[in-house]
Amino acid sequence: MKKIQVALLGLGTVGKGVYQNLTVHRKRIEEKLGISIDIAVIVVKHPEKHQAFEANALITSDFQTVLDNPSIDIVLEAIVGKEPAFTYLSQSIQAGKHVITANKEMFAHHGKQLLALANANKVEIGFEATTAGGIPIIQTLNQLFQVNGITKLTGILNGTSNYVLTEMRLRQLTFEQALHQAQQLGYAEADPSNDIDGHDAFYKLMILSQVMFNTQPEWSQVERTGISSVTLNQVVRHQAKQERIKLLATVEMINGAPQAKVAPEVLTADHPLYTIDGAYNGIFLEGDIVGTLTLSGLGAGAHPTASAMLEDLAIILRHGEATKRPYLVSTTSR
Ligand code: HSE
Repeated sequence: MKKIQVALLGLGTVGKGVYQNLTVHRKRIEEKLGISIDIAVIVVKHPEKHQAFEANALITSDFQTVLDNPSIDIVLEAIVGKEPAFTYLSQSIQAGKHVITANKEMFAHHGKQLLALANANKVEIGFEATTAGGIPIIQTLNQLFQVNGITKLTGILNGTSNYVLTEMRLRQLTFEQALHQAQQLGYAEADPSNDIDGHDAFYKLMILSQVMFNTQPEWSQVERTGISSVTLNQVVRHQAKQERIKLLATVEMINGAPQAKVAPEVLTADHPLYTIDGAYNGIFLEGDIVGTLTLSGLGAGAHPTASAMLEDLAIILRHGEATKRPYLVSTTSR
């Protein structure tokens, strides 16, 4: 059987999810793809903190190990923040390696640049995991809607905020209690203010705008309001009227320019995202041929995000097998 080696950058919630799922589902992946995948190197900031992690891989802080190893074909990145992720991925692409990222902040800032670099180096970038966890929204927009013009997207894009608002509503937890639970469950970012202040949803929305419209709004013009000022009292009052507060992210092309907003909104029962609860994300699309449709799925946590990264991995491997070429021109940008 053909064997490939990959590197994993980061061993937090998502990195561990990728490692575990690749290990647990090794046989299924080998049977489906006819390829054996070996995680050869795991790059982390502090290897000494991961001694208890039982990995059949080199755990190192030295990223150069990855660049220097020509047998590593694909780099899976699950680090927090723009750097060193952007530098690592740029260098990987320049070394002819495909890359797969879950890093929304980095990709919202540098996605366009990385896609151009990948194109020039004839490698692929998978970034499904940057947006809406396990929902295959990037593939849906990029591959399944080639002819439709998607005119508007409304999304619940942050699992932590949705979980917090849901727990406040269903169990009358305070904001702080609900957020603590979201952290315990591995939904929240290392700095949860990224979730509750709307930054995380904003980055995901900018990535979606880039995919849908090949452009992003001027960031400073986008309203970004989080959920930290939503009180239990407000949630309960709206609940009594069959209304729910959700953190909505919307982007729409208006007069040739994308207009976007991230803010809590009160939804009535007829809204397509009304029933999206807990750590689930929901995305409501409006297309000029298809009409409207709603996608939902778990938006946070180790497994949904690992799922998105592993499906990207499978797509890249399938493309390589189909064309019998080691590397492909990226198909990920319109
Ligand atoms: N903290 C993020 C969320 C994780 O809650 O949605 C997934 O991107």
